[in-house]
Amino acid sequence: KKVHNSNLCLSTGPLPKEQSGTKSTFSLTDSASKTAWSASTTSPPGNVVSLSVSSPPDVPIGLYSLTLDQGQKVKLGEFVLLFNPWCAKDAVYMEEERDRQEYVLSQAGLIYKGTTKRIKASPWTFGQFEPGMLDICLKLLDENPKYSSDADADCSGRRNPVYVTRVISAMINSNDDKGVLVGNWSGDYDDGVRPSHWTDSVAILHQWADNCCQRVRYGQCWVFAAVACTVSRALGIPCRVVTNFGSAHDTNSNLLIEFLYDEDGNDISDDSVWNFHVWVDNWMARPDLDAGYDGWQASDPTPQEKSEGVFCCGPVPLKAIKEGELNLKYDAPFVFAEVNADVVEYVKLTNGRMVKMGGSSMDVGHFISTKAVGSDERHDITHLYKHPEGSLQEREVYERAKHHNDLQQKGQEPGLKVKIKVSPDMDIGADFDVFAVIANNTEADKTCRVMFYARIVSYDGKPGANCGFIEDLTMEVPTGKEKRLPLRLEYVDYGDTIKSDRLIQLVLIVIESSPREFHKAKRTIVLENPDIAIKLLGEPRVNQKLSAQISLENPLPEPLQNCFFSVMGAGLTDGKILIQNVGTVGPKQEAKYTVEFTPTSIGSRTLTVDFDSDKLSNIKGYLNIEIKE
Ligand SMILES: *[C@@H]1O[C@H](CO)[C@@H](O)[C@H](O)[C@H]1NC(C)=O
Ligand SMILES: *[C@@H]1O[C@H](CO)[C@@H](O)[C@H](O)[C@H]1NC(C)=O
Repeated sequence: KKVHNSNLCLSTGPLPKEQSGTKSTFSLTDSASKTAWSASTTSPPGNVVSLSVSSPPDVPIGLYSLTLDQGQKVKLGEFVLLFNPWCAKDAVYMEEERDRQEYVLSQAGLIYKGTTKRIKASPWTFGQFEPGMLDICLKLLDENPKYSSDADADCSGRRNPVYVTRVISAMINSNDDKGVLVGNWSGDYDDGVRPSHWTDSVAILHQWADNCCQRVRYGQCWVFAAVACTVSRALGIPCRVVTNFGSAHDTNSNLLIEFLYDEDGNDISDDSVWNFHVWVDNWMARPDLDAGYDGWQASDPTPQEKSEGVFCCGPVPLKAIKEGELNLKYDAPFVFAEVNADVVEYVKLTNGRMVKMGGSSMDVGHFISTKAVGSDERHDITHLYKHPEGSLQEREVYERAKHHNDLQQKGQEPGLKVKIKVSPDMDIGADFDVFAVIANNTEADKTCRVMFYARIVSYDGKPGANCGFIEDLTMEVPTGKEKRLPLRLEYVDYGDTIKSDRLIQLVLIVIESSPREFHKAKRTIVLENPDIAIKLLGEPRVNQKLSAQISLENPLPEPLQNCFFSVMGAGLTDGKILIQNVGTVGPKQEAKYTVEFTPTSIGSRTLTVDFDSDKLSNIKGYLNIEIKE
């Protein structure tokens, strides 16, 4: 009886106000309301009263405290309100249960890396429901500068997933705020963790939160994206990690990537086409835009360009990218360039004159990939971002967008055909050939100068040391003939300097003597890592010790020193990373580790394994395990 006459008060944030929607006072009702906060009692026998509180679908997410006002205020407790993809009226509503299982509930996923021709899946533990994660995600919202400058407006803004997604995109990188990760592409990560070493978001978010929000060193695009995915899923916003192969980073924002080479084939341009780039898609309604833009929205937490003065990017509807609607919020031109920009290449001659090489509109934005729903297959979502390559619609969209940026036309096709061919077996540790192919499809015999280089490259397109070259060879190519020139790549030449991405860029430059014309072919190859074998020993049951045998064969012609296995899995290793030093492993010998852990929950789980050593690192393996009762 007494409870029935009292008011309840809910509030979130430090300065709760009714008019901001961060505070609400209401009395008990008999049934739940669909449009306002409400509470009703369920009365079991005895002197216990259970309260059932219902929220409207459009109130701010965050930590709420609930008080009972009977003249005297009694704090009843606290709870965290999240976005709710199961609720049809919520801005993040997702219709299919299997989609929600994947994009909200799944704690493990795959991130695609490599090159267009060799796409490799790499396991990642998002771990959004691991102990402490939700509190850390809320802390991340509270550390954002918009909160410090106007806490009430910020907390009130948390009703809107567009706002929250933009805050996440700004807070995952630590440029201009107390965000989580520092980006580093220098190749030297001695005072931090090598970006390719991370395998889960849990360790990163814990390190950030446990050290007074000190920036975690170091991340690169997939790390930024994976941590953004963890935070999004934890807060109830459906999210997936997306990889684009041949992503452009357009420093002039003119939708045209201009490569500049000097006459020796050295790249002297500012723009870079990354071998791959990773960002996230978040699912939500866009009431702030015209109808038709609800659904997947791209946002990119890797710090590249400032938007409204802050390093963040998006969310922007995929549909706006596809149709070239570049005036739509947020940052459409930047994402558009990442998936669409045309590539034009110039040679700067020693006399300073610029000569255009045959540019290609096909270099950027192939194979936009994400993990499929409910399986470990790669799901190609390129069609959501762009019309088919080379289609009339694609050209129209590009022209519309280009018109927006006011640009000139590109050049014509060259006369001689040059390309690079490779063999299928390019394993790390092995020696192998790659080929320059020059075909003469003109009426005349040709004499040309050929330069063929191989150099180590990191995934963001930054070139490293040369590891093989044929310099200034003069070659006759008679009319109607095709010439093939091998370049041998040997482990002794590339082994010392190859980066953990294992990428080698091949550049072929052919200069016709008369008329003087430049042709170029470029190709990035990724060397194959050895596989990690994982074998379960015994039946996987909850709360029972389980062992797995892990092994990897050293493919190099020399020993690996300082070998480590790191093993981790949400619901499997109790939030910990299990690390084993296995010392030195000789050539063609196996590194072995039998790991023991006790699964803590039932269901489908993923055990991820990382192998590191002085010469081979960033090798990942995983095993899906069904934990039974
Ligand atoms: C990248 O890492 C190196 C070595 O650990 C460090 O000297 C450099 O300052 C870092 N760069 C950035 C941008 O933090
Ligand atoms: C070389 O040029 C001739 C004449 O145009 C053409 O018929 C032939 O197909 C070309 N060969 C190759 C391999 O492209």
